[in-house]
Amino acid sequence: SSASGAATPSPAFWSSRLAFILAAAGSAVGLGNIWKFPYITGENGGGAFVLVYLACIAVIGIPVMIAEVMLGRRGRQSPINSMREIARQEGVSRHWKALGWLATLAAFLILSFYSVIAGWTIPYIFHALQGNLVGVDGAAAGEMFGQLLASPVELTLWHSLFMLLAVLVSVGGVRQGLERAVTWLMPALLLLLVMLVGFGMSTDHFGTALRFLFEPDFSSLTAAAVLVALGHAFFTLSLASGSMMAYGAYLPKGVSIVRTSLLVAVMDTAVALMAGLAIFPIVFANDLEPGAGPGLIFNTLPVAFGQMPGGSFFATLFFVLLLFAAWTSALSMLESVVKWLEEQGLARRKAAITGGLAAWTVGLTTVLSLNVWSGFTPLDSFERFEGKTLFDLYDFLTANVMMPLVALLTAVFVGWVMQRCSSEDELGAGRTHRLWLFVLRYLTPVGLVVLFLYNL
Ligand code: PHE
Ligand code: NA
Repeated sequence: SSASGAATPSPAFWSSRLAFILAAAGSAVGLGNIWKFPYITGENGGGAFVLVYLACIAVIGIPVMIAEVMLGRRGRQSPINSMREIARQEGVSRHWKALGWLATLAAFLILSFYSVIAGWTIPYIFHALQGNLVGVDGAAAGEMFGQLLASPVELTLWHSLFMLLAVLVSVGGVRQGLERAVTWLMPALLLLLVMLVGFGMSTDHFGTALRFLFEPDFSSLTAAAVLVALGHAFFTLSLASGSMMAYGAYLPKGVSIVRTSLLVAVMDTAVALMAGLAIFPIVFANDLEPGAGPGLIFNTLPVAFGQMPGGSFFATLFFVLLLFAAWTSALSMLESVVKWLEEQGLARRKAAITGGLAAWTVGLTTVLSLNVWSGFTPLDSFERFEGKTLFDLYDFLTANVMMPLVALLTAVFVGWVMQRCSSEDELGAGRTHRLWLFVLRYLTPVGLVVLFLYNL
């Protein structure tokens, strides 16, 4: 089987396996882990939500990730054209490329608001550098964050700067710069998270946080929360957005897709859980609200940094690392779009600028929904969407509608439409393949459909 590759440590082999792991981990680890996971866990009551999320990663996320990387490596093009190519190889309808379209559209929409949120890290780098965080309490941190959100001009500035960064690297070819950045980024981010968890332990609210995160209370779990957990499993692993397909397209044959996917999923999950362990002790120690929403880390972490020795230094480092983590994720969203534009005959440079500019423009509506349009909640007449701004709706539409749908189509295509020998050719025949195929054929689609119906 191709899994025996690790026994042949030729330099080329290692560098390419490592390169893919770094790129995929760079894509996966981002705002989803450090910004989104803690706040949705806080909003959805903790333990039971975390457990459902972990189950979604294991039963749905990992099998779909393997399927997507495999499709990418078989198609060797943008997600859209990879799907067309594979459908041709398999002798099935060309309409399967709609899966690629839907995934690319999801990546584009996510990039539009992801850039706005990633932009928030930049003013915090400056705050930390200027020592503004020293001694801040919960109220002061909340005020600082509120001021940022209230200013469309400032938000637009940071959003523009972030998108520019993404486009710049994308123009120069993602892989070189990306590889080098991620090599030191991951260990540094982990080290800082370990430090923050250590600080959490010193607050004597660590026990409360542990219980909040890991003591499931299923009586408080709602159907909506289950859907959020599912959607987040896709979002955090960069699935259903073409990103893993686009990166899989660069993966040399002979690298074990199963083992690399598992490794990336485990890393991503570890970072998310550590972020939770870092943030919730601060929440409880300072009487902050776990359900505070998207501002959670910006309302809590400054308080922690403001109290610890060397806090300004560590805060600067932390927000720089968060910016980089978001940057490497944004690159992978852009990649699905840019690759397709290149296939339409655009030069790489033009493709990257076009994709970035379009996503930037849509992102302006997210900027406005945080202030000027914060009262614009167009779907108020539906109970479920009451009070949801445009940004909330983009988040819901991508993570909770488009991504589960793309994942369902992927599971059906790979599990039922594609010939068994094609996936065996990529993954190697044997027990692992049988188990994976079984899960992808039955558990994944049934789970997705049940969760969907349950929510209607
Ligand atoms: N996985 C990234 C994160 O957790 C977000 C992402 C979603 C990246 C979709 C690429 C595609 O932040
Ligand atoms: Na992630």
